[in-house]
Amino acid sequence: MTDQHPRPAHFAAPGPLSGTVRVPGDKSISHRSLMLSALAVGESKVDGLLEGEDVLATAAAMRAMGADIARGTDGRWTIHGVGVGSLLQPEAALDMGNSGTSTRLLMGLVASHPITATFIGDASLSKRPMGRVIEPLGSMGAEFTASPGGRLPLMVRGLAPAVPIEYRLPVASAQVKSAILLAGLNTPGITRVIEPVPTRDHSERMLRGFGAELTVEQDGGTRIISVRGEAELKPQHIVVPGDPSSAGFPVVAALLVPGSSVTVENVGLNPTRAGLFEILKAMGADLRFDNERIVGGEPVADIVVRHSTLKGIEVPAEIAPSMIDEFPILFVVAALAEGRTVTRGLEELRVKESDRLATMAEGLRAIGARVEEREDGLVIDGTGGEPLAGGATIAARLDHRIAMSFAVAGLVSRDPVTIDDMAPVATSFPGFTDMLVGLGAESA
Ligand code: S3P
Repeated sequence: MTDQHPRPAHFAAPGPLSGTVRVPGDKSISHRSLMLSALAVGESKVDGLLEGEDVLATAAAMRAMGADIARGTDGRWTIHGVGVGSLLQPEAALDMGNSGTSTRLLMGLVASHPITATFIGDASLSKRPMGRVIEPLGSMGAEFTASPGGRLPLMVRGLAPAVPIEYRLPVASAQVKSAILLAGLNTPGITRVIEPVPTRDHSERMLRGFGAELTVEQDGGTRIISVRGEAELKPQHIVVPGDPSSAGFPVVAALLVPGSSVTVENVGLNPTRAGLFEILKAMGADLRFDNERIVGGEPVADIVVRHSTLKGIEVPAEIAPSMIDEFPILFVVAALAEGRTVTRGLEELRVKESDRLATMAEGLRAIGARVEEREDGLVIDGTGGEPLAGGATIAARLDHRIAMSFAVAGLVSRDPVTIDDMAPVATSFPGFTDMLVGLGAESA
């Protein structure tokens, strides 16, 4: 997982894209479904799990800590959990591959169990900051030995019983929030996270679904989330909706390629995740939600989208957490829109799988877009629907969403846009290339 050969590729659209597709299961929900099932006593079932490398890293780690996890031939996963407080000491280092979510959430779980675990990862993950979870989990009593800068490889020595804390998030991060709530599950008393800016709330929804005592109070824009520890989780049947972050790629491809008409079925539209679609509509996208329904406690719909003439926009900083993973593909939209798009408040993008502001600015410029990189965002002057020049090789820097964004940019460029390595796409979107080809794109 941490050692793969680069797989270069380029993509083109010889004509309009059309058809109906599904995208793989939601990555955030998939991770959490495995973790909570592994902590419930008894057998849980998960349908629609994302079988991408990131989620498989979580599955392997939960197995290494005692859970019994198997995939049926029908694609349903069954998990026999060990119970909160009963995770076992893993015998070998936990290989997190490219996955920040696996790493940070599992650090939370280990922190309040009487076990020690070492976390390792690929070159991208080994550059990402873990101090943001080390700090609160350390104040709950866990001990850490980290590489310089609070990075992987690192070792966590959990403490049981841990000490409950009340923690105000200094950065808008669902991973940090979730790490603390998961640590709180095996901590006596109430663990509380104060969230000044709301982030994705899948952990809260699913913890409640598994029977944890969890409350959310709203104080203006601030959310106060409290979980009672020494919880007993009851096994569940989880149905994972399609990932809105993955759906962003076919949706944008259809918007940009002239004459296209595409439906993406079964997309999760939790309001803490759906910011991209709101911004696209505000830019003039012909985009509609059909068949709106609730699946497994999460809002879901089919997205019907047609090629549209799009206008540049000022993206309000407040919307960023609800589309934090979608800025790479939004920057591609901005490069083709009419007029200027301004984004701000995006410092967090610098510590994702790559520095997404720098990587996107560099790549978009290389294919002819007009981009100004600022400390906290990009300013992009679009072509007004004219194709980009293309004719460059993009360094995706082990970042799946950069690779997929430039695959889509290649569909609307005159000369080929080569992505140096599509291999990381397998972390979140197995079948991405087949999906685009099925809609009428070409890939070589
Ligand atoms: C995630 C939270 C976000 C997001 C990541 C998944 C999660 O990260 O970028 O892809 O599942 O909690 P941050 O918590 O760092 O914002």
